[in-house]
Amino acid sequence: MLRPDEIPAHIGMRRKIMDDTLPTPEGKLLPHPAEKAPRIFADTGDIKEIRPLHDAGIISGVTTNPTLMKKAGADSWESAKNMMKEIVKLLDPHPVSLELTEITKEKMIPQAEKLASYGHNVVIKVPIGGYEAVDSSIDRNTGLKVLHELWSRDIKTNATLIFNSTQALWAARAGATYVSPFLGRVADYMYKHDAVEMPLGNSLYHMEDHRGGKENSRLFNTSYVAAGGDRKDAGIRLIHEIAVIFANYRIKTEVLAASYRNDVQVPESLLCGADILTVPAPILMAVADHPLTDEGMKAFVEDSKAFDH
Ligand code: E4P
Repeated sequence: MLRPDEIPAHIGMRRKIMDDTLPTPEGKLLPHPAEKAPRIFADTGDIKEIRPLHDAGIISGVTTNPTLMKKAGADSWESAKNMMKEIVKLLDPHPVSLELTEITKEKMIPQAEKLASYGHNVVIKVPIGGYEAVDSSIDRNTGLKVLHELWSRDIKTNATLIFNSTQALWAARAGATYVSPFLGRVADYMYKHDAVEMPLGNSLYHMEDHRGGKENSRLFNTSYVAAGGDRKDAGIRLIHEIAVIFANYRIKTEVLAASYRNDVQVPESLLCGADILTVPAPILMAVADHPLTDEGMKAFVEDSKAFDH
């Protein structure tokens, strides 16, 4: 686990360059004390999970993807669209990421325009890459081209499936509003594959090259992840690396940390400079619990019985 003293000053600088996330409403005398607080999104397509978190003011956004929509019960594109519309309406004015299911630019742009018409709070989620892996006839830069085209059309985007800082930088340059680094999947991978550390001089970890032999590994940026340190921290270091690079170059694309697996990753990613956290509902519901709070509350209620009410 990262120690707070390992976090560089860049992260503080980033907070200064980012816009306030909770601006004080017009005419309000008492300014909000946490206007630069990080935002928390729910990572789910299930409105039953979203509603209580929304009502409690815990979340100010939602992210979905085809897997989450299927898990929430969507069994056709029609039902997925209806569920997405309902979430967009409930969350208004907060952002809701809706992921494209088309994989060619010609079909992705009209699909993005259609989804964007559901509400002014819609953000279009665009996979950063993998197009060529799905179909070798598709342009490998499709995601970047779509991000750039949507930026030129004033449509907000969330570049998803980010696994290294170069992908994040490319997405930012293409005009992405958010980048979604998947810290949990990186951590899972590093636990599962006890990958060999690269020799000194290369601060990056080597990941198995899934597309060929080791001799090809340098060809693929996706073969590398997150600057040095304990291998088990690779996911959280991915967030850190992107936040520091964005801070250094004053990039205002927001770092939307994603793919959470446990409670500890929540404060860790805040220490590392994530602008927004998108977290599964069960983690959000329990992460702020503490047994000593429960004990303390029971004692207060018990002792207050001594007073007249
Ligand atoms: C968020 O935007 C992602 O779609 C999500 O966090 C993926 O997480 P997973 O690794 O749990 O599928």
